[in-house]
Amino acid sequence: ATHATLPERDCTSITPPYAQLQDKLQTIRRILGNRPLTLAEKILYSHIHNPQETLGDGKIVRGETYLQLNPERVAMQDASAQMALLQFMSAGMSRCAVPASIHCDHLIQAVEGADSDLQRSLVTNQEVFDFLESAARKYGIEFWKPGSGIIHQIVLENYAAPGMLMRVHYSHTPNAGGLGMLAIGVGGADAVDALTGTPWELKAPQIVGVHLRGQLGGWATPKDLILHLAGKLTVRGGTGRILEYFGPGVINQSCTGLATVANMGAEVGATTSTFPYTQNMRAYLIATGRAPVARAADEAASNGFLAADADAQYDEVIDIDLSSLEPNINGPFTPDLATPLSKFGSFVKEQGWKDELSAGLIGSCTNSSYQDMTSVADLARQAKAAGLKTKVPFLCTPGSEQIRATMERDKVTDVLEDVGAVVLANACGPCIGQWKRDEKKGEDNAILTSFNRNFKSRNDGNPLTKNFLASPTIVTAMAFSGKLSFNPVTDSIPLPSGGSFKFSPPRGQDLPSEGFTPGRTTFYPQPTPEPQPDTEIVIKPDSKRLELLQPFGSPFGEHNPRGLELPKLKVLMRVRGKCTTDHISAAGPWLKYKGHLTNISENLLITATNDEGGEVNVAFDHDHSPSESKIDTIPGVAKRLKARNEPWALVVDDNYGEGSAREHAALQPRFYGGAMIIARSFARIHETNLKKQGILPLWFVDKADYLKISSGDTLETIGLADLLQGKNQPIIAIKVTKRDGQTFDVPTRHTMSSDQLKWLRAGSALNHIRSNII
Ligand code: F3S
Repeated sequence: ATHATLPERDCTSITPPYAQLQDKLQTIRRILGNRPLTLAEKILYSHIHNPQETLGDGKIVRGETYLQLNPERVAMQDASAQMALLQFMSAGMSRCAVPASIHCDHLIQAVEGADSDLQRSLVTNQEVFDFLESAARKYGIEFWKPGSGIIHQIVLENYAAPGMLMRVHYSHTPNAGGLGMLAIGVGGADAVDALTGTPWELKAPQIVGVHLRGQLGGWATPKDLILHLAGKLTVRGGTGRILEYFGPGVINQSCTGLATVANMGAEVGATTSTFPYTQNMRAYLIATGRAPVARAADEAASNGFLAADADAQYDEVIDIDLSSLEPNINGPFTPDLATPLSKFGSFVKEQGWKDELSAGLIGSCTNSSYQDMTSVADLARQAKAAGLKTKVPFLCTPGSEQIRATMERDKVTDVLEDVGAVVLANACGPCIGQWKRDEKKGEDNAILTSFNRNFKSRNDGNPLTKNFLASPTIVTAMAFSGKLSFNPVTDSIPLPSGGSFKFSPPRGQDLPSEGFTPGRTTFYPQPTPEPQPDTEIVIKPDSKRLELLQPFGSPFGEHNPRGLELPKLKVLMRVRGKCTTDHISAAGPWLKYKGHLTNISENLLITATNDEGGEVNVAFDHDHSPSESKIDTIPGVAKRLKARNEPWALVVDDNYGEGSAREHAALQPRFYGGAMIIARSFARIHETNLKKQGILPLWFVDKADYLKISSGDTLETIGLADLLQGKNQPIIAIKVTKRDGQTFDVPTRHTMSSDQLKWLRAGSALNHIRSNII
C-alpha cells in the first residue's frame, strides 16, 4: 500500500555514517579472522572506539571482552537528565560531543486528562523544565517540551536508524531496535560519557538468536510474542545478552510492532534487541519524513551490513512459530508469569481472585503505535455498534504528539472517547506511577495494561493492585467485559437488550493512509540547534531540587603532605554483605532530589549494614566532640568527617555496587569526602563509576583481610605514587594503623588504566576533561 508521508526532512545529522562504519567493520573482520558475524556484532563492532587497542590479541570473546564504543547519539529523559547535565556542565565543554536530546515525559502526573494534567505538571515541575531547557539551549541539545511525548516513541519517530548505536538514559531504550539498530539503556554516568565523548565500556554481550517462523494471526500481536518469550526466558534470561531476531517471521511485521518486541526485551534483562532491516522499516522511515535515511540504509543493506551473515553463530537459538502463538496475559507483579489467554480464566479461578477488572490502560512507549490505536478503535467501533461502553475506567496514553494528533485527525480519539476512554497527556503517566488513583487506595483490585512493567505498586502506588500485561486489543476487549476471565476469542458479552455480542478479531492499519500529522509543533525542538553559549542556566538559589555541582578537588597537591599517595584516610565503616547501588543511594522519595547532590546525599548508604554490630544505617564516630554522640547514621558520620576535613575510606564486601549504573552511588560518597573503597570484589560498572568521580577502588588480594580493618582505623596507600608516575605497579599496599596504634600492611590490587589514573590525579574524569579544555 502507498501511504502519504510527512515532508522529507534534512537527515544529515540522523543518518548513520554507513561507509565509515562498514570500513571499520572490514578492519575488525580481518582481525577476527573473517568469521561470520551476527547483526548485533556488526553494529557493535563497527562502533568500536579503537579497534587495535580493544582487540589487542585479535579476539573478542562474547561475554568476556570489554569493548570501548562510540555511540552516535544520546537521549535523556527529564528525571535523570538533571544530574547528567549538571555533571556535563562541570566538564567545561561548550557543546556535546555527540548529538543529544532531552525528553520531558516522566514528570507529568495523570489525574483527569491531557490538557489539565499537562498544565498542572508545568507548574509543579517548572524549575526542572526551566533548567533543562536553558541547559539544552546553551549546549545545543534538542529539547522536547512536556507534551511532546515519551522518549522511546520520539526516538523511534525521529532519530532511530538501521545499524545505528545509541545510548538512551532509561531501560526501555531498546524500543528503537524496531528499526534494526542497537539502542542500549544506560545510567547517568554513561550518558555523561556520551556527552563528553569518553568511549563507553561495554562487556561484549552474548547473542541469542530468536528464529521466527510463520505469521501472527487472529488476536495475536507482536506484544504476545514478547509476552510469550518473557515466560520462556524469565526476568533474568536475557542478562548480558542481546536478542537478535531473524527468519521469515520478521518480514511481515510492522516496524512499530517490532519496536514493541524490542521494548520489552528489557523485561528479560536483555542488553537490547534488534532485527534485520525490512521493507516495513523502510516504509516507516519514509512515512516519518526520513526517506534519505531509508535510501542510505538500502545501500548499506545491499552490502550485507544490516543483517547477519549466513552461518553466524549464536550463543543460543530459540525457535518460535508465530502461527501457533495465542495472546498472553502476564503477571501479576512480574512480567515473566505468562499465561496463554485460553487458560487465563481458569488461572484466575485457581488463584481464588475476584473475577473483576478495575481498569484497563493502553498506550505508553510500549504500545501506542498507529497500528495499536487503529486496532483498538476497530474493537471500540464494533462494541459501540452493539450499544456497549467500557465497564471500567479505560485510559489511553498516546506515545507522542504525532500519534495523538494523527489519532485525532483520523477519528480514532472520537471512537475511543465515545465508548468511555479518557485520553491522557503524551507522557509516561500511569506507567511510571504518575497516576492519581485515590478511589482504589488500599483496595485489592486488578488492572490490565498494555505497558511493559508490572512490579508491585508500579502503576498506582497500591501494593494490592494486581497488574497484568497484555496487548492493547486484549486490554480493550476486557475493558468492555469487566471480567478477568473473559476470552474475546471465544466468549460473548451479554447485551442489556438481550442477546449477546462477540468481537471479530481486530484489524488495524500499520501506517496512516493520509500520513502522520505532527500536531502541535510548539512542543518540538528546533532540529540540530547550535549552542548558545551566553544562555544563563536557570537554577533558583533556594531550589531544593537543583544545585550546581562544584568540581571535586584533587586529593594530591600542596595540601597533601603525602605527595602522590592519598592523604591519610579514616575508615568510615565496614559494610557487610550485599550492597547494591540502591543501598548506596536509595530511590523512591529521594528521586526528587536527583538534581541536588547535597539533598540526595542525605540517603548515603542508609540501608547498608554495618559489619561492626550488624545494624543498618549505624556508624561510629570515634573522634566525636564532647557535644556529639559516638553513634550516628552513616550519612551523619560521613558529614562529620567532611566538616572536620578528614577524607575517609570504606571497607566493603563482595560485588559492591551491583544492580545499576546509578551515578549518585559514586557521586555521594565523593561529595562527603570518600577517597578510597577497598572491596572483596566490585560490580564492574560501579567500580568504573567510582573511578570517574575520583574515588580509588582497590581489591583485597586476600579476602580475609576484610575483617582486619575497622571503623576509626587510619589507612595509607603505599605505591600509588609510583603507579601515578607510570611504573607498572599492580599491587598497592595499605598501611593500617589501628586505633590502639598497632600497624600492619594489607596488599590490594587495582584495576586502573592509564586514562583512569589521570582521572584520579585530576580529582574526577570531568576535572580531567576540563583541564584539557582550559
Ligand atoms: Fe515511560 Fe513507562 Fe515507557 S515510564 S518511558 S512509558 S516504560
